[in-house]
Amino acid sequence: MTAPLKRSDSVTVNVALGERAYDIVIGRDVLQSLGPRIAALRPGARTAIVTDRNVAKHWLEKTEVSLSQSGIAATRIIVEEGEGSKTYAGLERVSEALISAKVERNDLVIALGGGVVGDLAGFAAAILRRGVDLVQVPTSLLAQVDSSVGGKTGINSPQGKNLLGAFHQPVMVIADTAVLDTLPPRQFRAGYAEVAKYGVLGDEGFFSWLEANHADVFAGGRAREHAIATSCRAKAAIVARDERETGDRALLNLGHTFGHALEAATGFSDRLFHGEGVAVGMVLAAELSTELGMIGQSEADRVRRHLAEVGLPSHVQDIAGCAQEGLGDADALMALMAQDKKVRRGRLTFILLKAVGRAVVAPDVEPSLVRDFLQTKLRKMK
Ligand code: GLY
Repeated sequence: MTAPLKRSDSVTVNVALGERAYDIVIGRDVLQSLGPRIAALRPGARTAIVTDRNVAKHWLEKTEVSLSQSGIAATRIIVEEGEGSKTYAGLERVSEALISAKVERNDLVIALGGGVVGDLAGFAAAILRRGVDLVQVPTSLLAQVDSSVGGKTGINSPQGKNLLGAFHQPVMVIADTAVLDTLPPRQFRAGYAEVAKYGVLGDEGFFSWLEANHADVFAGGRAREHAIATSCRAKAAIVARDERETGDRALLNLGHTFGHALEAATGFSDRLFHGEGVAVGMVLAAELSTELGMIGQSEADRVRRHLAEVGLPSHVQDIAGCAQEGLGDADALMALMAQDKKVRRGRLTFILLKAVGRAVVAPDVEPSLVRDFLQTKLRKMK
């Protein structure tokens, strides 16, 4: 029996990847439509829901009800929350559970959770029986606007983040904006950094809309949906142009070269969420662009002002305990940046700004120049 779709005003964004094209469905309560949508997309398929303990508490039952009302069998695989699950051991657990559940080629893996669950379940789906299809049901703002879209999946190596992975596009993304109501405010804010990123990198009009409407985005309702849909549209367009990151997709890494170094320096801990690192990194990228004469100081200030206004850290100095952690040491940060996936033969790739709303890939930035820039920026901390 297929349950009727409950009415909700959803927005659909298509990721145009030819035979691997898929829809991102965004709206309040769209989780209820998961069962009917899967029944229509893949009649007869069985599913395995991979989620974490915390998300399971809030959303697993609703997900299972939607599936069972459409006659879809579902197994649940629950992992611990946090990066600790994005490991070889975590991958083994999920993969073995999927094999035990007899998930076959035509079945579906459903990733119900934030970035960790999406990356882990996505990678397990990518390698299970050489590839089983994946539905992403992102439950954090960051996952809804970034990690669930575009097909990047993977786990961490003890030697670095996301060093093992695969491109494995989902067959559908269901982004229920109501699930964000239960997110801790700090996590929502960290995800917002990635929303602002889309404005800064490619859409000045969206950035000024965010400057005027950010309070409504945080409050929920229409503005939140608009922000998420606009972010997904921006990401979908970039991914459709450059799925494998040989060119433009790197623009999505705005703020990430500095941000990852700061995350590494804080031990990838709760001291600095990924989105918070991206916020500080975006301001540094804007200021480096000023240093190189690509934008004026007022444009870098504009980026910093907005991020600070929503309560995001916008300076290294805003990171708790930064002075004790070597965050004020330009050489230590340079060493961490050198381990980044974006390094090619010792040269650093940065995403810099030609204007607010116009980012460019700068693949060959002279390390000594970046070091001097950081040293000047960090001098104030000493
Ligand atoms: N999060 C960056 C990307 O998907 O390419």
